[in-house]
Amino acid sequence: MSIQITWRGHGTFSLDFAGTAVVVDPFFAGNNPAAKIGVESVHADFILQTHGHGDHIADTVPLATRTGATVICVPEIGGWLSKKGVENIHGMNTGGGWNFPFGRVKLTPALHSSGLPDGSYGGNPIGFVVTSESKHIYIAGDTALFSDMSLIGSVGLDVAILPIGDNYTMGPGDAIHAINLLKPKVVIPSHYSTWPVIEVDAHAWAKLVEKETDAKPVVLGVDETFTL
Ligand code: NI
Ligand code: MN
Repeated sequence: MSIQITWRGHGTFSLDFAGTAVVVDPFFAGNNPAAKIGVESVHADFILQTHGHGDHIADTVPLATRTGATVICVPEIGGWLSKKGVENIHGMNTGGGWNFPFGRVKLTPALHSSGLPDGSYGGNPIGFVVTSESKHIYIAGDTALFSDMSLIGSVGLDVAILPIGDNYTMGPGDAIHAINLLKPKVVIPSHYSTWPVIEVDAHAWAKLVEKETDAKPVVLGVDETFTL
């Protein structure tokens, strides 16, 4: 069995756990200038929602209502999605874990904000650690650097997906510091170059990762897959 991680552009990923499709932060073509595929051609069994900003939740309602996917999110976002017709929601909160059919999901803190597109309160932003087939994958979500990343890394991370775009989240330099706290085997950058304000040369950053950390950088192109 293998785990496949496909970047859809910006903070959106499609994860495949032995045939179970898990979509992180649905934001597809039509809304997401970096994405190549539209939400109508995406399959999901589960959706991991890190926070309520439009560049993460724009396509959650259409994806969840069409596929019947279960959205894993904080209760404030769950309540908002439910009012918009999403039926399957699994509410969780920071520090909590739950065993889903594809693996265990634990919610981590994230240093960011989380208002919903219509101004509704979205609770706290979060990240995820997904444990499946004894592999640990950390999806940081939108966050600043914080020192408790060393605690998140203490489980022994196989992959860390980190924002590097700066301006809205940590930038390339703080992401290097984050890698040295998290100590993942592999790091995948996200949340960069979608718009000019978060333009980053990810390949130049990858060279820095190789020089200053023990992690292996994997820079994915849009719709490119890393197999774990
Ligand atoms: Ni955000
Ligand atoms: Mn964002």
